[in-house]
Amino acid sequence: MAKIVAGVGCSHVPAIGAALDMGKTEDPYWKPLFDGFKRSREVLAEIKPDLVIEVYNDHGTAFSLQYIPTFALGVQSEFQPADEGWGPRPVPVVKGDSEFAWHLVESLILDEFDMTIINEMEVDHGLTVPLSLMFGQVKEWPCPVIPICVNVVTYPVPTGHRCMALGKAIRKAVEAYDKDLRVVVFGTGGMSHQIHGERCGLINREWDKNFLDRLTSDPEGLAAVPHKDYIREAGAEGIELVMWHVMRGALGDKVEEAFRFYHVPASNTAVGNIILKSLEA
Ligand code: DHB
Ligand code: FE
Repeated sequence: MAKIVAGVGCSHVPAIGAALDMGKTEDPYWKPLFDGFKRSREVLAEIKPDLVIEVYNDHGTAFSLQYIPTFALGVQSEFQPADEGWGPRPVPVVKGDSEFAWHLVESLILDEFDMTIINEMEVDHGLTVPLSLMFGQVKEWPCPVIPICVNVVTYPVPTGHRCMALGKAIRKAVEAYDKDLRVVVFGTGGMSHQIHGERCGLINREWDKNFLDRLTSDPEGLAAVPHKDYIREAGAEGIELVMWHVMRGALGDKVEEAFRFYHVPASNTAVGNIILKSLEA
């Protein structure tokens, strides 16, 4: 049987991808950030994922503003890195797992989550930057990745509670899959940031730390936090953090924090990374 062994929360700042791709990891601005993620990669490697379900948001790349699915799942066998204006990132193609992806989407839809099925899409920094941070600059990603997209770009975006419920349904679906696979769920985006307007550059370290703490100590309470609290306290783009509730919901009740890293700033953003082991695996 497949099982969810761990969850990863990870920011997705596009400038991190550019710094990696342009060989700037030793620059004084970037070095402390990349040094922190060295340990993340060791911890994740010890967990030995066979497959990643990556919950992320598209930034008007695959979906433009013409179609805005609230929740979508990519069933392709390959996802090319998208050109976001300066050429596609020079990272490996992302290999999916169509058989597992169709199992997941069927299970989720029959469980009354009305997922949009994506047969064809490219993936932007929202997906590839967390992969680079967690797996490094590799020739091939070490395992297949099934993308689940959440709309956090246009209101109304789903609630934290709904995201957590989706995570719980993902857990049920994974446990019903008859291959022995160690699955890790990534929740990506965040932490505090606002990249436009008068409050551009807003960072709230205390709020971010509290968010990381409550993933373990009070996940249900954290999932009930209303959108306006994210926007007021963590900036307009801090709302990306709702995607971390999908990851948390997928882990079951009991988790153990295996690793945490927090760094400010990268571009306009606070960068957070957490690795939670499911104690119910
Ligand atoms: C930045 C952060 C994001 O999450 C994003 O999608 C784009 C830009 C930034 O900090 O520059
Ligand atoms: Fe973003």
